[in-house]
Amino acid sequence: MPTTLFVNAAQTVTCSGPARARRGPEMQDAGVRDGVGVAVQGERIVMVDTDDMLRRAYPDAHEVDCNRGLLAPGFVDSHTHAVFGAARFAEHELRATGVPYLEIAHRGGGIHSSVRSLRDTPSGVLFDLAVPRMARLLAGGVTTVEIKSGYGLSVAEELRTLRVIRQLAEALPARVVATCLGAHEVPLEYREASGGREAWLVALEEELHPAVAREGLAHFADIFCEPGVFTRDESRRVLAGARAAGLALKLHADELHDGDGASLAVELGATSADHLAAISDAGITALAASETVATLLPATMLFLGTGRQAPARRLLEAGAAVALATDFNPGTSPLTSFPLLLTLAVSELRMSAAEAWLATTVNGAAALGLAGETGQLAAGFSADLAVHAVDDYRALPYWFGERLCDVAWCRGRACHSSRAVVA
Ligand code: NIG
Ligand code: FE
Repeated sequence: MPTTLFVNAAQTVTCSGPARARRGPEMQDAGVRDGVGVAVQGERIVMVDTDDMLRRAYPDAHEVDCNRGLLAPGFVDSHTHAVFGAARFAEHELRATGVPYLEIAHRGGGIHSSVRSLRDTPSGVLFDLAVPRMARLLAGGVTTVEIKSGYGLSVAEELRTLRVIRQLAEALPARVVATCLGAHEVPLEYREASGGREAWLVALEEELHPAVAREGLAHFADIFCEPGVFTRDESRRVLAGARAAGLALKLHADELHDGDGASLAVELGATSADHLAAISDAGITALAASETVATLLPATMLFLGTGRQAPARRLLEAGAAVALATDFNPGTSPLTSFPLLLTLAVSELRMSAAEAWLATTVNGAAALGLAGETGQLAAGFSADLAVHAVDDYRALPYWFGERLCDVAWCRGRACHSSRAVVA
């Protein structure tokens, strides 16, 4: 089998170690090494060693010159809502005048305006809109991305969204993981009908989640567990049903107000609890003692202008498994520049650069149940890697807003390149 060597890196951030989420003191060691490259055969990494040793082991290999850049695992963006119709510029300005996010949704805007837009947009157009957005995300060195439905909010429209996500999974060079977020909101037509709220919960339990599991359209089910959206009891009921149908679980938990969502995620054995900006002390303790990954989304809090962030330091110090993701969506986080997330991790969440790297690679993979497959440069793992045009792992969070990813490979194939093609 032909071999490719990634050589001549100034520095390599391997994130290598156990194939599970890192926590506690492990978060200080991102496996940063000098003079080390990677050998790839087919879809797999077969060796991580000095350039000399790689060349000795594979003398006939093709070489990719890292040009004294930074060699790293591909990033894992474990939380996006990347399939949507129109952008929501007006709402951005409305929030600036002081109207809160949940109040906008209560008035029928917010998520509901994205629902109207998605329902009016043919599947082919949704696909065509998503492709360049995803290309921007991948251009930052992302090689695995989770995409949620949640702007359809009827059984048929949620299934249609998940089919668009499946088409993207087939067409994109990156790995795509699908999540059903039919429980993103109570659809307006169900809110208005008497007894409608209950009818939507029943539709989720009896129709949508079983159909999604049957057709293999998503790996995860998710819910917006938030006071004013879905209660804790409703969330437990819907997610327990989804789990019984065969789906793994995620929660939007304690985003704006503490609704004890983190402890529910632990109780249900959810793979991740996401947002957590309003998590309680009890929630932190519960997450720290569990396998559930705490996924923080600092771009969302920044873009909402809340002036707050999730208590990342307290979560890390308690020993929780912390991941970071963009939450890319048209309402609260139109962010496709993945490296900016590392800047927010350091500057807003007070994380170290090593913590930021591990939270966007190994722990992002764990938040998708993929810690044995991707997120680290080590023999046996998927050949998901990126070269960034910097010579120090701390430079990526530092030079914020820059486009520094040179090339990225997913499953042993190029998935992004900023290099000019030379004939
Ligand atoms: O993760 N909070 C709920 N869902 C998304 C935002 C959805 C929207 O406003 O369109 C989030 O922030
Ligand atoms: Fe989200």
